[in-house]
Amino acid sequence: MIRIAVLPGDGIGREIMPPTVEVLKTIGRRFDIRFEFKEAPVGGAAIDATGRPLPPETLAVAKESDAVLLGAVGGPKWEGLDYSIRPERALLGLREALGLYANLRPAVLSAELVDASPLRRDVVEGTDIMVVRELTGGIYFGHPKGIEKVDGPGGEERGVNTEVYTTHEIERIARVAFEIARRRRKRVTSIDKANVLESSELWRRVVIGVQKEFQDVELRHMYVDNCAMQLIKDPKQFDVIVTTNMFGDILSDEAAQVVGSIGLLPSASLGDATIELKGGGRKGLYEPIHGSAPDIAGKDKANPLATILSAAMLLRYTLGHEAAAAAVEQAVTAVLRAGSRTADIAGPGTTPIGTAEMGRLVVARIEQKGAVRVA
Ligand code: IPM
Ligand code: MG
Repeated sequence: MIRIAVLPGDGIGREIMPPTVEVLKTIGRRFDIRFEFKEAPVGGAAIDATGRPLPPETLAVAKESDAVLLGAVGGPKWEGLDYSIRPERALLGLREALGLYANLRPAVLSAELVDASPLRRDVVEGTDIMVVRELTGGIYFGHPKGIEKVDGPGGEERGVNTEVYTTHEIERIARVAFEIARRRRKRVTSIDKANVLESSELWRRVVIGVQKEFQDVELRHMYVDNCAMQLIKDPKQFDVIVTTNMFGDILSDEAAQVVGSIGLLPSASLGDATIELKGGGRKGLYEPIHGSAPDIAGKDKANPLATILSAAMLLRYTLGHEAAAAAVEQAVTAVLRAGSRTADIAGPGTTPIGTAEMGRLVVARIEQKGAVRVA
């Protein structure tokens, strides 16, 4: 039995989640996997219900599960709240409480959607990058932090955050990156700012040390400012990128835009927590890269594919079930190849379909493949 915490959150999160759960149920029938789904509020929805973005009940559901499927959090309704209780805090709270230190953000240019990239076809075609972002350390969580009064006249204040990394934190994220590279094109680019920051100096030294365990994987280093440039100039040079929490936040948005269709990009946040699953896996949180898109929420316009592809990552990384993951990915590719598009990816002259319809098409493809296999 695989227990899945379903946290739809806010805005389009509520619409993209039902088709994704349907996809997993269909996969369950085809591959004989038993799923148990438990839904709980998170983000703005949880603030409305309980006053807090991550209520203890929701955290408990997440902790008891093998994997968390999250929609999106936030919206204009909660923007006036104090930063400490905004919907986005729920994400940080979940990452920290579940020990999800490795954030995997694939930026793959889908062959069907080359024209969605703002870059020229010859620059971008074939781009397939995995950004491995450290997710529970660095400046997001470092101490000291806060806003304090500065002594003296004038009401001067000081805002402080601390970029801090320990050997252990760098080692474990580097290992994840090298392991993933081993299953890909065997190239890791480690991004830092070692020409200025001591925390980066340590980062680079430790990553070099870990590479000794992975001699079959090539390692190179790049400063973050140069990486920002290289991602636009020649995105195909990258295979796996490994970097800190803050740099990864920024570069993963950039990589997502390079491949154009943010409505298609999934993510996985993984920890070490060992769970008793066949095939062995890591406890994980899976969510689309895009946000809650309040402007189109409730209109059956959102693209559910990023969340559906996040479910594929769940099958791959938490269950270790490559065949099931591939079945979802192939179904999505087939639907796109057949020309079906939601509004965000519909080019001129294409009639867009809605969220629910897109979900139905993917489910149908998965069922159809199943039938072919039996026949
Ligand atoms: C992301 C988001 C979050 C982050 C915010 C919403 C807290 O930008 O997942 O990339 O900065 O990590
Ligand atoms: Mg971000």
